[in-house]
Amino acid sequence: MARHLITSAIPYINGIKHLGNLVGSQLPADLYARYLRGRGHEVLFLCATDEHGTPAELAAAKAGMPVAEYCAQMHQTQAKIAEGFAMSFDHFGRSSSPENHRLTQHFAGKLAEAGLIAEVTESQVYSNADGRFLPDRYIEGTCPECGYDKARGDQCENCTKQLDPTDLIDPRSAVSGSTDLEVRETKHLYLRQSALKDNLDAWIDSKTDWPVLTTSIAKKWLHDGDGLRDRGITRDLDWGIPVRRGDAEWPGMEGKVFYVWFDAPIEYIACADEWAKANGLDDAAWQRWWRTDMGADDVRYTQFMGKDNVPFHTLSFPATILGSGEPWKMVDHLKSFNYLNYDGGQFSTSQGRGIFMDQALELLPADYWRWWLLSHAPESSDSEFTWENFQTSVNKDLADVLGNFVSRITKFCRSKFGEAVPDGGSWGPAEHQLIEELAARVAKYEALMETMDVRKSAQELRAIWVAGNEYLQSVAPWTTFKTDPAQAAAQTRLGLNLVRLYAVLSAPFIPGAAANMLTGMHASDATWPEDMMQYLNALAPGHAFTTPPVLFAKITDEERDSWQTRFAGTRS
Ligand code: 2FM
Ligand code: ZN
Repeated sequence: MARHLITSAIPYINGIKHLGNLVGSQLPADLYARYLRGRGHEVLFLCATDEHGTPAELAAAKAGMPVAEYCAQMHQTQAKIAEGFAMSFDHFGRSSSPENHRLTQHFAGKLAEAGLIAEVTESQVYSNADGRFLPDRYIEGTCPECGYDKARGDQCENCTKQLDPTDLIDPRSAVSGSTDLEVRETKHLYLRQSALKDNLDAWIDSKTDWPVLTTSIAKKWLHDGDGLRDRGITRDLDWGIPVRRGDAEWPGMEGKVFYVWFDAPIEYIACADEWAKANGLDDAAWQRWWRTDMGADDVRYTQFMGKDNVPFHTLSFPATILGSGEPWKMVDHLKSFNYLNYDGGQFSTSQGRGIFMDQALELLPADYWRWWLLSHAPESSDSEFTWENFQTSVNKDLADVLGNFVSRITKFCRSKFGEAVPDGGSWGPAEHQLIEELAARVAKYEALMETMDVRKSAQELRAIWVAGNEYLQSVAPWTTFKTDPAQAAAQTRLGLNLVRLYAVLSAPFIPGAAANMLTGMHASDATWPEDMMQYLNALAPGHAFTTPPVLFAKITDEERDSWQTRFAGTRS
């Protein structure tokens, strides 16, 4: 048994996330957390809302609410939706928590002590029409790298380049659209991450098992031109974590706050502190996950995120941790994802295009979405959601293969033997061959889940379901029953045990259906299979069960068409 710390990129507070956001971070992180727990490991799975910065301020202004109130409300909304998608977070925290205030100010103090903070008087874009500085998302323009014309002041969504507002070509205010902008002087703190370039380079080189997507992005920003230039970590904003040096004031920085990308990853740590407090635990309880001097040396830490988040997690956040000179745990594995597109275009929060998490749950239970998204995860390249593809996957994989298997075997047993595992007969070559195949496939499934090959894991799981279906089809207990009821009983017994096996193996992907299958089988023991032969004998003759209701309803062509039409436009 090992200890696994898992974090998902923390979603911005502004609004409900779309399915593309979900599949790039929270969902695969949940898959991995559920799998590891299923294997008996100790897991701490954390996520939170990312509440600072211009996205929060702009969204609150649009909603006509004070920003703190807006964040509190949206946090509740996002927590509820995450629960709807069966996210098994140990804690869903808030980057605006007192714990994160304290830790962020602490890190800034340590970095300053280490000589890694520079105080810089710099030029910032000031909007005369708005009467304020325009940091980050308050300003939009054309990306100097790729020419995308809706690049934001902090990052280009199109090519992932990290930007400063003054980099933008043809800049305009995101608040008023005004181009009456001027450059004014203001003082800010810079993290001298360039001083850590060699350390970061060596650290990334040591991560030989990282996905190519992760290391290629990290290396690109480390070596291309100004990739690792020093970055401003403070902003002229009201909402955020006040700039302090540990517990002390920071002369000259009054009224300024830390940059959202400085405090957001620190929330991964603060969230563990929040988790401990929420559960009445002491500091040692969370520090054993995060401080190598407190036992975190034997923790394996895995982060999940979309590709646009990779530079911050491979460069800026590690620079913060390394630079502090303190024994904090660094990430061991960083699983990143490409983008999921929507029906011939992009999912877009700003344009309201695609399906958003709340809307998805109004149409169908979480398992349907979880299965499609994970089995089509954008791992080696971008992938695309289409309604046809969604309908096919749900109907074929979930309804025809898994759902049909469960319903067929339980209903057959009920009609011929009653709702208890039947006695009699014994297993022959067909059963032994199936058990052998399953043992091999489960081993492969485990290996793929360990390496977080999400799509391939889904394929293997499906193959495991298919094997049971084919077995049932070929031995046909309903036919055997006519001539040899004892043999039909043995076949049925195996089939019923397969339902429990499928529930346990499938739980990381489709936890709702898995729970229904276990409840139906009256199976309280959901431990992972070790010895397949033994496992498939666990539900012994006489063990009662209840035929579960239909697990998955098929999506009709009418439903598919009406959803396609309904989600063709943009969300207001
Ligand atoms: O892209 C996003 O949604 C960011 N809010 C992710 C932040 S992850 C982290 F560093 F905390
Ligand atoms: Zn760009």
